[in-house]
Amino acid sequence: MPKMITKAVFPAAGFGTRFLPATKASPKEMLNLVDKPLIQYVVEEAVASGIEEVVLVTGRGKRAIEDHFDVAFELEEDLKAKGKHALLTEVQRIAEMVTFCYVRQKKALGLGHAVLTARRVVGDDPFAVLLGDDIIDSEVPALKQMMEVYQKYPFSILAIQEVSRSEVSQYGVIDGRKVDDRVYEVRGVVEKPAPEDAPSNLAIIGRYILTPEIFTALENTKPGKGGEIQLTDGIRLLMEKQPVYAYLFKGDRHDAGDKLGFLKATVQFGLRNEEFGAAFKEYLQSLKI
Ligand code: G1P
Repeated sequence: MPKMITKAVFPAAGFGTRFLPATKASPKEMLNLVDKPLIQYVVEEAVASGIEEVVLVTGRGKRAIEDHFDVAFELEEDLKAKGKHALLTEVQRIAEMVTFCYVRQKKALGLGHAVLTARRVVGDDPFAVLLGDDIIDSEVPALKQMMEVYQKYPFSILAIQEVSRSEVSQYGVIDGRKVDDRVYEVRGVVEKPAPEDAPSNLAIIGRYILTPEIFTALENTKPGKGGEIQLTDGIRLLMEKQPVYAYLFKGDRHDAGDKLGFLKATVQFGLRNEEFGAAFKEYLQSLKI
């Protein structure tokens, strides 16, 4: 039986440049999507997939994330005193859902470097990586789908989706050979290629299962695209040592790190909201656009 995956790394030390000026003083992970911050959606996906320990890789200006997942004593006392029990339960649930641990990435040297920063905490076990920009809406949590694939292919697994040729330059792109339903054996990976250089239109989305051998690979990874230590380049080195697979997950992915993607996600999640979804729909339909 392959080892169970219980730890997940959340790189969250980036500057959120695509979302400036909103992210000048507050972390992009805390941007609110309808009624909770982006990062909470992704942490909930991890928990629903069986993750027991979340390793958040943070940096300067990211304290709000730590506070969000911590006990808020004064707030809880206040809600108790005012008899706001439903809100109290929700606020307490956030702090209790999983064990959190924080590692500081002192310099934003790239996604690969962020993952390498978590090495000591992760140790020698396979682990998951989840990127907070990618909100995945699916019946079965995306990471859980990947865990199932991992049972049969107990190696690193990258989540992928098909994108249009013109979009490949925004992603890591794989060259793969289909080996099973929705499963590819990865033969090559390239970070943000020009459309004419892309080996396929299968783009890596921010969910990974990685074997601990990735750490040695990342240690040996030279700065790549944008002068950063890219996870994609580390994965290419890892492929010299062991197989890597990719999985075409079932679900809709929103790029919430992008202003338009975020707006679209807001509309979709807003429409589905139990409390005001119907009223929101009515409002949207009334707009003369
Ligand atoms: C990162 C990865 C890229 C991946 C993408 C998925 O890029 O480097 O390989 O396709 O996440 O969202 P970023 O979006 O951080 O530039």
